[in-house]
Amino acid sequence: MAQKAVKTIGVLTSGGDAPGMNAAIRSVVRVALHHGLKVKGIMRGYAGLLEEEIVDMDSTSVSDIISRGGTILYTARCQEFVTPEGQEKGAEICRRHGIDGIVVIGGDGSFRGAGKLSALGINTVGVPGTIDLDIACSDYTIGFDTSINTAMEAIDKIRDTSTSHERCSIIEVMGRRAGYIALWCGVANGAEEVLLPERYEGDEQGIINRIIESRKRGKSHYIIINAEGIGHSTSMAKRIEAATGIETRATILGHMQRGGSPTCKDRYYASIMGAKAAELLAEGRSNRVIAYKLGEFVDYDIQEALQMKKDIPEEQYRFAQMLVR
Ligand code: ADP
Ligand code: F6P
Repeated sequence: MAQKAVKTIGVLTSGGDAPGMNAAIRSVVRVALHHGLKVKGIMRGYAGLLEEEIVDMDSTSVSDIISRGGTILYTARCQEFVTPEGQEKGAEICRRHGIDGIVVIGGDGSFRGAGKLSALGINTVGVPGTIDLDIACSDYTIGFDTSINTAMEAIDKIRDTSTSHERCSIIEVMGRRAGYIALWCGVANGAEEVLLPERYEGDEQGIINRIIESRKRGKSHYIIINAEGIGHSTSMAKRIEAATGIETRATILGHMQRGGSPTCKDRYYASIMGAKAAELLAEGRSNRVIAYKLGEFVDYDIQEALQMKKDIPEEQYRFAQMLVR
């Protein structure tokens, strides 16, 4: 794709928020300013773009935000932008505001939108921001580390009360269709079961048998980490209680997993990825996604990135199965 000089860039956050998005915004703004570009913040993702919610940003606009969860630009999902008319309107609004490049911080869906803007002549670069770790081109996504630590601490607490009452606990963690949060917490929390959408075949009787067996061996609790992609934790708890006679409670951790001050790892990855995105735009590049691959920060063509596939690493899953029992 031909490179064109960029003078003003916009930055937006889109899809589910993730801790570290603010660190990424800060980095985009500061590095773009360093390269002599003007920066505008686009509020509420593509929805705000279509509503022309656009504000000028300078270095102080991003002061004191690196430690804050959420996103100062707010985020949203926007159906109108999925349509060609919405995308054309978005590109036209960019042109009217003198925005010739955009950094989109979000997940796969947001990158699809970024690809469309790029095809309409607005230089775009995506930065992977989602707690789900489900972006195929990247070994890391901003927010994952904070989220698993938040979930891990919550699960430790549930484990205390589960032990005291000699109960079985099913704890549902986020991840949309991906099981990465469940896998990491299952291992890190020393759970008895970890159920991942990528692997679970619905053998509930097997789980029931193992619960009965473990109780016979004297185990006082039984922690099941269930991924959101499997879901149905409450009904599963009822069936397990009926079949085992052991009190069983379901806890859905929910949106607490998306909040909180980002960990050092999230702040660092967000800062480097945001910087790289701003620098690519400053060089006139477009239609790229920043990724972390095999220990390096790299960038890919958006369409190539969206076609990549990712799965739970088989060896890690195998070890998890040995550890959780
Ligand atoms: P995430 O970016 O976290 O995957 P979503 O899948 O909800 O979150 O996508 C965020 C937004 O990106 C959507 O609300 C929509 O505005 C935009 N988007 C998603 N898919 C497309 C698409 N195929 N074309 C254009 N825009 C899209
Ligand atoms: O993509 C992040 C995520 O938190 C997923 O884990 C979850 O499925 C989804 O967003 C929840 O979205 P919402 O905030 O719209 O309920």
